[in-house]
Amino acid sequence: MTDTTKTSQTPAAASLNRRNFVKTTAAVAAASAFAKPLLAHAAGSDELKIGFVGCGGRGTGAALQALKAYPGNTLWAMGDLFPERIASSQAGINDELAGMDEDEGSGTAWRDKMQVSDDRKFIGFDAYKAVIDSGVDGVILTTFPQFRPAQIAYAVAAGKHVFAEKPVAVDAAGIRAVLAASEAAKQRNLAMQIGFCWRYHNAMRAGFDQLASGAIGDVTTVHTTYHAGTLPKRPRQAEWSDMEFQLRNWWHFTWLSGDHIVEQAIHSVDRMAWAMGDQTPTKVTCLGGRQARTGPEHGNVYDHFAGVYEYADGRRAFHTCRQMDGCPSDNSDYVYGTNGSAYINGWTPNNIETKNLDGQRTWNFKGRPEDMYQTEHNELWASIREGNPINDAERGCNSNLMAIMGRMAAYTGQVVTWDQAMNSEENLTPDRYGIDVAPPPPTVAIPGQTKFV
Ligand SMILES: NC(=O)c1ccc[n+]([C@@H]2O[C@H](COP(=O)([O-])OP(=O)(O)OC[C@H]3O[C@@H](n4cnc5c(N)ncnc54)[C@H](O)[C@@H]3O)[C@@H](O)[C@H]2O)c1
Repeated sequence: MTDTTKTSQTPAAASLNRRNFVKTTAAVAAASAFAKPLLAHAAGSDELKIGFVGCGGRGTGAALQALKAYPGNTLWAMGDLFPERIASSQAGINDELAGMDEDEGSGTAWRDKMQVSDDRKFIGFDAYKAVIDSGVDGVILTTFPQFRPAQIAYAVAAGKHVFAEKPVAVDAAGIRAVLAASEAAKQRNLAMQIGFCWRYHNAMRAGFDQLASGAIGDVTTVHTTYHAGTLPKRPRQAEWSDMEFQLRNWWHFTWLSGDHIVEQAIHSVDRMAWAMGDQTPTKVTCLGGRQARTGPEHGNVYDHFAGVYEYADGRRAFHTCRQMDGCPSDNSDYVYGTNGSAYINGWTPNNIETKNLDGQRTWNFKGRPEDMYQTEHNELWASIREGNPINDAERGCNSNLMAIMGRMAAYTGQVVTWDQAMNSEENLTPDRYGIDVAPPPPTVAIPGQTKFV
């Protein structure tokens, strides 16, 4: 599943049983995470137990990809805020595994890879702790972005390998926490893979290899786009608290999603970083606002951003993103170099080519595009088994901060430097999570008035 499929998601059918939030789970371990023995998976041993927190669309896909990556992987525990999400995710995974048993005749009993018993299904804001403490070797973290830094930190402290979806954080405080966890993961030989899935696409890799090998000369500038439609709105139900309304509509609230430049267009910010050789920019100017979706049902996120990132060597890179219906969609990277240009299409990644300065094609991808999500998990779990676990968190944090600094510049109307962004004291995390806790007010930022923090 890609971000673009989000619009096909249907509202969750059942409402939340508040008692589930209060009791969270009987199985939450009270022990200090740091007191636990560290697991370093022995190369060559076979079974890896996987826990999974955030049983929505992406998480369900990622869990299946992790199982398909290697027959020794089993799904051991699941956690979510909402019980019905666990039920539908488990049913979906079971169906897919049963189909593989029937289709493949591979000798693997795929059905048996689902090992999540009822006492290893955990509900509530602390469900992640119970999943992580349930005896797993690694975790898949696919909740709303707001919650990721604390979950990553807890998992690494408990000695678990981590797959974390993008974005890993919605603010700089979260980025700093994830960078610290990444360093700890390296010291403990734990994996920390971030879901910048296009980095794992065979066609994209071939195209960006062309750029790195000088096929268009030195890259001088890049423009990436993520122009898409709007995301679902789930109408307010009488029994929902303000918090539940926001959780059910998380894309529309900056504290939960980071806004769409951070939540969705971040893939294109990441590919901009890739094309620029993963140098970090020195500063950004970004314009943005909300014009087509202005009602309270859209929380406080903007519907468009246009950012100019400047680099120490004088280069500039441009990123534009939009979530508006009735406008053309585009997810492309336009890369210009001293000897030519490249075109890279994000939604059909076999559509990649380079041209010389006369506009003649010099290369295009001719292979068969593979499933980047599957490749991502194949490489992750193989790296763990080989004792050389992938850690791409620092690169992921850099792209994540680039997206956050774009939002900061747009919201405040100010130029924001890399150092200002990295050291920002903005903290979008409320003092406490709870279904009856008042969520942060959805104040819409006004450039020139909203202050940089
Ligand atoms: N790499 C990609 O192409 C890609 C594609 C889609 C989504 N994503 C990312 O994956 C993440 C999830 O997106 P999604 O589309 O699956 O959303 P979703 O709403 O379908 O699923 C998220 C699930 O997490 C649960 N959840 C949220 N907060 C939780 C918490 N604190 N504890 C336990 N459970 C919690 C929700 O109840 C929900 O079931 C987002 O960060 C999104 O940006 C990445």
